[in-house]
Amino acid sequence: MDKLSRLKEIVQKELSSSAHDIDHTYRVLKLARLLAKNENANMEIVEIAAILHDIARVREDKDKSGNTDHAALGAKMAEKILKELNYSEDIVKGVVHCIETHRFRGEKAPKTIEAKILFDADKLDALGAVGVARAYIIAGEMGEPLYREETNIEEYKNKNLTEGKSNGRIKDVSKHSVNIEYEMKFKHLPERLFTEKAKQIAKDRLKFMDQFFERLKKEIEGEA
Ligand SMILES: [Fe+2]
Ligand SMILES: [Fe+2]
Repeated sequence: MDKLSRLKEIVQKELSSSAHDIDHTYRVLKLARLLAKNENANMEIVEIAAILHDIARVREDKDKSGNTDHAALGAKMAEKILKELNYSEDIVKGVVHCIETHRFRGEKAPKTIEAKILFDADKLDALGAVGVARAYIIAGEMGEPLYREETNIEEYKNKNLTEGKSNGRIKDVSKHSVNIEYEMKFKHLPERLFTEKAKQIAKDRLKFMDQFFERLKKEIEGEA
């Protein structure tokens, strides 16, 4: 078995309790490869980082204390795994940096092109048709309604999210919905991206989401 397949196997085991995380991993891998082709990046680092980036996701979710950061823990786990598989120091270092900086709200920012590619690929997977589908899976798990009309997003944030922050905890899920999440978060994602190609893809994916939520509103109001 080649080393990449071995890494996939290790990740699959870690994420076995959560089907969408492993599917997400493979989508990110494909997107990361696409972005890397447009940049002068080390493809090996990009591929390994994409495969391993959420390896600690389930461990973070299981830790009810909220102290586990899957980016920091994932970087440590990746370092150990790659050393055991005799990867060179450059590869290990490169991958560790990608994983520890891939988080949207992370304090550490991606500095290398490989880390920027992973960051972008990971965020793109929250946009477009996949983004809509993923958001509704999560909303369903949380018990959120299909749609809530909300015209004043700032006021909404202050009322229903801790500290009035868009990534704050939702106080009342019955008042939350994917279309609100879209206005609050998804719409602003492209501003955070690094690579030109990712920005281009994000623009296209957002256009689709715009149409989707516009249509959803019309159907809910009985106009279409
Ligand atoms: Fe992640
Ligand atoms: Fe991810």
